[in-house]
Amino acid sequence: MEVQRVQAVANSLSFATDTIPAEFVRPQQEQPAITTFRGPVPEIPTIDLCDPDQENLVRSIANASKEWGIFQVVNHGIPTDVISKLQAVGREFFQLPQEEKEVYARSSSSQSIEGYGSKLQKDLDGKKSWVDHLFHKIWPQTCINYQFWPKNPPSYREANEVYAKYMREVAAKLFESLSLGLELERHVLKEAAGGEEIEYLLKINYYPPCPRPDLTLGVVAHTDLSAITILVPNHVPGLQVLKDEHWIDAKYIPNALIIHIGDQIEILSNGIYKGVLHRTTVDKEKARMSWPVFLEPPTECVVGPLPQLVNEANPPKYKVKKFKDYAYCKLNKLPQ
Ligand code: OGA
Ligand code: NI
Repeated sequence: MEVQRVQAVANSLSFATDTIPAEFVRPQQEQPAITTFRGPVPEIPTIDLCDPDQENLVRSIANASKEWGIFQVVNHGIPTDVISKLQAVGREFFQLPQEEKEVYARSSSSQSIEGYGSKLQKDLDGKKSWVDHLFHKIWPQTCINYQFWPKNPPSYREANEVYAKYMREVAAKLFESLSLGLELERHVLKEAAGGEEIEYLLKINYYPPCPRPDLTLGVVAHTDLSAITILVPNHVPGLQVLKDEHWIDAKYIPNALIIHIGDQIEILSNGIYKGVLHRTTVDKEKARMSWPVFLEPPTECVVGPLPQLVNEANPPKYKVKKFKDYAYCKLNKLPQ
């Protein structure tokens, strides 16, 4: 049977409706209308990546990664038009007729997550999320499977290649600052996460407008499997993070990048840096989109707490395992 895409479900609902199919209604303890915190909240830290005071930059990144596991960066060096083009070609892809998008569909038998699809994790309660996605790698060159890169619009490839080039510089800077923030040499975390073999996996999330955003979620609460995730949002807010037991909204800052600490940096740092628990809400009138790039160790890379950070007073808090085994357990909801 053909999989039904959320975009097609959304298009099939009549304009006047105020209901959504039952499988999209989250249990009450997850519904955004009930669980979003509306009181005064602290804001996710914003960091100037061009801060001439290096020590201050390292300290800000380290503190944000310890206390929040997420921060926004401005002055990151990626030109505005490079980001706008990445967004424009992604938007155009999702506006193609359904059958054209299906050309890039991930087959359910595939081992890889690359391709166009609607769902990744097995949902134990059979519930669905209000989002479709396209996944494909953008770096290193040897990992790229161009069959998952849309041919339409024709400028899709160039826009993604240019973005990947700038992305690598931002990634290098983040890995360095995170290493220095642990009083390690600047190259340590990047090397431990796979060095030049680190894979850059782009995901485009497409959250169609939804008649009942109070009842459903885009992506449900999770931490990212990656080492670091670097995300470009569109102007429609929706990202929420759990901070001090409250779900709070991330503010939209035009041209900022949103940086998530993922599981692998949490593990390498032996829990000093925290992977952030996050989820997304959807909008009644507008399509929300986002472009996270997951920086992932190559599949055979063995990841565990760095020996430099472990001693008698600080025993290892995580197992040492190959990234592919960690990923398998996470995607199948098995204990690590
Ligand atoms: C994700 C994710 C957040 C967003 O795809 O892993 O957390 O803002 N996306 O879309
Ligand atoms: Ni995420």
